Amino acid sequence: MVSARNSIAHLNLGRHFDAIQQATKSIELAAAKTAAIGKSSELSQALRSLGSLPADERRETSKAANTAQSLISAVIKAREVELEGAELDARLQAEHVDLTLPARPRRKGSVHPTMQVMDEMIALFADMGFAVAEGPDIEDDFHNFTALNFPPKHPAREMHDTFFLRPDPETGERKVLRTHTSPVQVRTMMTQKPPIRIIAPGRTFRKDSDATHTPMFHQVEGLVIDRDIHMGHLKWTLETFVARFFEVDGVDARFRPHHFPFTEPSAEMDIRCDRSGGELKLNTGDSWMEILGCGMVHPNVLRNCGIDPDEYQGFAFGMGVDRLAMLKYGIPDLRPMFEADTRWLAHYGFSAFAAPNPASGLS
Ligand code: PHE
Repeated sequence: MVSARNSIAHLNLGRHFDAIQQATKSIELAAAKTAAIGKSSELSQALRSLGSLPADERRETSKAANTAQSLISAVIKAREVELEGAELDARLQAEHVDLTLPARPRRKGSVHPTMQVMDEMIALFADMGFAVAEGPDIEDDFHNFTALNFPPKHPAREMHDTFFLRPDPETGERKVLRTHTSPVQVRTMMTQKPPIRIIAPGRTFRKDSDATHTPMFHQVEGLVIDRDIHMGHLKWTLETFVARFFEVDGVDARFRPHHFPFTEPSAEMDIRCDRSGGELKLNTGDSWMEILGCGMVHPNVLRNCGIDPDEYQGFAFGMGVDRLAMLKYGIPDLRPMFEADTRWLAHYGFSAFAAPNPASGLS
């Protein structure tokens, strides 16, 4: 009978050490491990057959076999650590990113002209000391109409071609998609004490669609409330804004008397433009484009918002952001602005790196 001890000597364990050392990948090492000390390895088999040996041989053989096994395990462990390190190094090398390389010129997206202009307006008004206020797109009748001095049940509520939501089954209240940003005036006056100087940029909605009207469009509302505010302040603020916005010394603008329930007196501001030849040009030609509505805040509105009109006065304005974008960037038709056509966006869009701010200027 071949002694177990001899059989261990015969196992030629040296080849396993070689295989372990030569493994250059984790899976090679795993294979070498299975061959050397796995369940069906010769060493494991020898260990299992110890019981059949005579007692005197058993002790010594078992010692030799266990020593061999722990030696091999230790060598495997050491090689594992080495390979892990080497594999990590290789990955770090392969996945290395050179952050100093310039970005690829490929353009993935761009900033919509409306958003660019909105940011420009915020930057300019911030510079004049205005804070930004916001309100919800879905408004109630009180904020959109009643508090703004629209007479109850008056057709003026229809004047805006309002989108009404379904009436609430319990209260019968009909919410609206806000027809203008003026409800933010109300929200601001009801929560802040004068002096107030805010602009409110946002989305507005009316049932309307042609070259200069879309059912969803954008406005920037403005509101100033303080003591002794008059039309001169309104006119200076708007003329200064418009000139700075178009980056010119002056803009040919006209104030046309108008009516809004929430201002008295009220006006609309038009600017001169030329629409011939499919292009839109500023300050020449004999077309006028209406860009905003404005006026002195009606005493009833102040009262509705808890402000004493004998102590405080103010002016307000609401301008069409998309139209100002058309005028500034020569966009002839309003409708494609909201059709999400990537060719249009690639043509008229702005780089996200061109974000305007009061420090670096507009564009
Ligand atoms: N809310 C008016 C509109 O949408 C604009 C406006 C705002 C007029 C503030 C006067 C004062 O047409």
